[in-house]
Amino acid sequence: MKSEEALAQVAEEVQVCTKCDLQFSRKNGVPGEGPATAEIMFIGEGPGFHENEQGRPFVGAAGRFLEELLEQVGLRREEVFIGNVVKCRPPGNRDPRPEELAACDFYLERQIQAINPKVIVTLGRYSMAKFIPNAKISDVHGRAMRVKGRLILPMYHPAAALHQPSLRSVVESDFALLPEVMASAESVPEYEIETPEDKSEPKQLSMF
Ligand code: URA
Ligand code: SF4
Repeated sequence: MKSEEALAQVAEEVQVCTKCDLQFSRKNGVPGEGPATAEIMFIGEGPGFHENEQGRPFVGAAGRFLEELLEQVGLRREEVFIGNVVKCRPPGNRDPRPEELAACDFYLERQIQAINPKVIVTLGRYSMAKFIPNAKISDVHGRAMRVKGRLILPMYHPAAALHQPSLRSVVESDFALLPEVMASAESVPEYEIETPEDKSEPKQLSMF
């Protein structure tokens, strides 16, 4: 199947999905949007009020901030893929639950396979946890790392910076790393995940 078709198929399935209880708070599923050829994929948490109304990702206040951040590095939202770990709005914007994240990963994985992006920018801790489950966002934000062959750049969620003004400059400087990370994508080393037998410090998280 062509990548566009695979993405369209996911988008269609999400609208009628019954795999988890978030189906009950869905007005519109929010599969995500962007070209199948996107080199950068942003993965947020889940739809909020406005996203649920419109069926589009990041269209509220966090979305406006995300667009500003993209502009800062010379990108427009139309050039990148923007999605979420859960495709339906959690009631009252509560955090997504483990079983919901697990169910919805079926769609996110297919999107990643279809797009095969050069870099995945995780926005917030749920998206980060898909790739580096035990990491703390305060430790790893802004550090490019390769996980199972995929280049990941974890960042704080833009909404976090809106609620906590001290994070704003942190988010801005993490975004400023994107061009450099893209340019040296091939040379970022594999992240050494700590195993129970190996209690030593991870050798090198990233080259940045
Ligand atoms: N926050 C998210 O994580 N995703 C959206 O789509 C909108 C806001
Ligand atoms: Fe299906 Fe994902 Fe929506 Fe749950 S959140 S109903 S798994 S599309």
